[in-house]
Amino acid sequence: MKDPVFNLIESEKKRQSEGLELIPSENYVSKEVLEAAGTILTNKYSEGYPSFEGVGENGEFWDEKRIVEEKLKNYRYYGGQENIDRIERLAISRACKLFHADHANVQPHSGANANEAVYWAWCRPGDTILAMTLASGGHLTHGAPVTRSANIYNFVGYGVDESGDIDYDELEKIALEEQPKIILVGYSAFMKIPDFARIKKIAEKIPDCLLMADMAHVAGLIAGGVHPNPLDFGFYVMTTTTHKTLRGPRGGLILSKGNVKNPLKKPERTLENIPVLIDRAVFPGTQGGPLEHIIAAKAVAFGEALKPEFKDYVKKVVKNAKKLALELKNRGFILQGDGTENHLVLVNVKESFGIDGKFLEKALDCVGLNLNANAVPSDKGAAFRPSGVRLGTPAITTRGLGEKEMEKIAEWMRRVVDICVGLGDENLLVSAEEELSKIREEVKSLAKKFPVPGI
Ligand SMILES: Cc1ncc(COP(=O)(O)O)c(C=O)c1O
Repeated sequence: MKDPVFNLIESEKKRQSEGLELIPSENYVSKEVLEAAGTILTNKYSEGYPSFEGVGENGEFWDEKRIVEEKLKNYRYYGGQENIDRIERLAISRACKLFHADHANVQPHSGANANEAVYWAWCRPGDTILAMTLASGGHLTHGAPVTRSANIYNFVGYGVDESGDIDYDELEKIALEEQPKIILVGYSAFMKIPDFARIKKIAEKIPDCLLMADMAHVAGLIAGGVHPNPLDFGFYVMTTTTHKTLRGPRGGLILSKGNVKNPLKKPERTLENIPVLIDRAVFPGTQGGPLEHIIAAKAVAFGEALKPEFKDYVKKVVKNAKKLALELKNRGFILQGDGTENHLVLVNVKESFGIDGKFLEKALDCVGLNLNANAVPSDKGAAFRPSGVRLGTPAITTRGLGEKEMEKIAEWMRRVVDICVGLGDENLLVSAEEELSKIREEVKSLAKKFPVPGI
């Protein structure tokens, strides 16, 4: 008998098929990405790195005759790497091509690991890192006191202004005062396009300052050409997750500019040496063996992102997000930044309707619309009771939903809000089951018309 875990996987397939995923950090991977992630590559240990000496630069596979030659050049701690090396090398060269990078480390198990490795590559305990505060839209790994890195480094934060954009004057003032080792531009709940050129000018005034971007949310938009690429504006390092707009397997990625050299030799801490410093900070600095099945799936996803269809996809993601924002506004939802320039929308639910974000998240969950409660800048709600909700279009656009469907989603959301306001207390949601189930059936019937890839 098959393990009962598989029954639960079947239930999850049903949930994904019958509901609509509005969490902006989620997506649905292709069948091929899924296939690569579930392979025997999980059996292999491959601590270390493949050779970097110009092999597969254009994504071509190595010539079989050169396998021995390549084996002599790799930097692995285990034997039997001829296929793994080629897979990892392909992932690296595709990632470099997608993001105009000199080097890519495809081994981070997650976005958090990628950030941690960059901090470790460039800073020493006590060094200052300047990043967007969590309350303004930054990520936990950008200095939230509950994280390990916040206990190692001295994080200082910048925020957003009234318009929801980065307060660049404040950022410059703090940077000049604090002389950080890293200025980090990145966020999980920010809907504007950062002025990378302006931030580069600020960083130039600070000696030894590494300009780092955490583009976890918008990496797919960058790859598809609808969002500027920080590496084109003088940033040295860009981290990302691979599973959000980039539509790959769950994992992390570090891209950098600089001189790619033997990762076994300890280099001097210079900007030119960043690729090697990063490789050493990932392994052995902060991780052990890489997940080569996931790296294979990353390679497949990067290959997909290099195709022209991906450009169309990300254009639609942004178009859908703008339409969704407009339809929500028309129905009384007050939006942070009054709209969006990317794939996500942040709603101040408290200000709009007097209920908190968690209440709305739970009520929407009951109808098969999944999003997440999120703090809004200068939120007065507790961490588990934030005032806002965050939603986005990467996943539903993958399923093929368009602007017409964005109107429907906004309408369902308003109907659910009215139920919540009528009840006044989330513990009473059960008493609204009949009304909620009507909306759930409507969501389900639309969702069924747009199958989830791979199911
Ligand atoms: C900007 C940003 N950085 C890093 C991360 C962490 O990624 P992971 O959950 O893969 O560790 C996230 C995840 O949401 C994120 O939004």
